[in-house]
Amino acid sequence: MVEPYCDYVDINFGCPQCIARRGNYGAFLMDNLPLVRSLVQNLSANLHVPVSCKIRIFPRLEDTLAYAKMLEEAGASLVAVHGRTRDEKDGKKFRANWDAIKAVKDALRVPVLANGDVRHMDDVKNCLEYTGADGVLSAETLLENPALFAGFRTKEWKEDGDDYGHSGLDQADLVIEYLKLCEQYPVPWRMVRSHVHKMLGGWFRVHPEVREELNKQSKLTFEWLHDMVMRLKQLGGRVPLYRKESALQTTTNGLAASNA
Ligand SMILES: Cc1cc2nc3c(=O)[nH]c(=O)nc-3n(C[C@H](O)[C@H](O)[C@H](O)COP(=O)(O)O)c2cc1C
Repeated sequence: MVEPYCDYVDINFGCPQCIARRGNYGAFLMDNLPLVRSLVQNLSANLHVPVSCKIRIFPRLEDTLAYAKMLEEAGASLVAVHGRTRDEKDGKKFRANWDAIKAVKDALRVPVLANGDVRHMDDVKNCLEYTGADGVLSAETLLENPALFAGFRTKEWKEDGDDYGHSGLDQADLVIEYLKLCEQYPVPWRMVRSHVHKMLGGWFRVHPEVREELNKQSKLTFEWLHDMVMRLKQLGGRVPLYRKESALQTTTNGLAASNA
């Protein structure tokens, strides 16, 4: 169905949410590896575009390696590994296991992408070096800071003593850019609302009354949201994004992408 419209088909074996448990898909297919094998075999044999797989790790490394090798044998052209198990849902609580990703990379011939705990460009560099992966994926951080791969980081990840240039970019600029894109490419308002909340989270902590006003709006308009951002700017408490001068070099060495 999607074949004529895309460059490759990615199979989502990574979703750990209840909805995936109920529907028996995503990471719950890890309980039925013969089915996974036949899915990948059938798709890779019958599609004219490559098939890739996004997986989570098993608690035991040998199971993860057997899983990844099976996917490669079944015809996967690329494997993206999220270095957390199906039960490690909270990314803030559980560090991603880069050792497991490295072991998968060492075991496979097809390209491997590393996923988990990529929060700024130093993580991109460290993850590529540590795991040997061919690229990285990032999700949660991009919701708050969509400029991650342009080399920007939030204050949370700014290290003392490092030299950061004055970027002139902050979360509000990104929200304005995001809203313009939404006007051009319409998306449901509930998504706009949730992205604005994520991007302005730092600012709302300083001015919770503005967050409350946003929450009270049962119906949003672009005009209202633009005004809200302007009001935040006037209130002060700018939430800047920081960029190290060396940050941009890494993108040319490794593939970096969003996978949210
Ligand atoms: C909004 C959102 C939706 C996601 N949906 C999926 C999904 O359908 N399938 C999947 O394998 N992972 C999904 N993930 C997980 C991410 O792809 C990623 O594996 C995980 O967040 C770890 O990366 P991170 O540490 O950079 O956040 C989702 C993450 C977010 C934030």
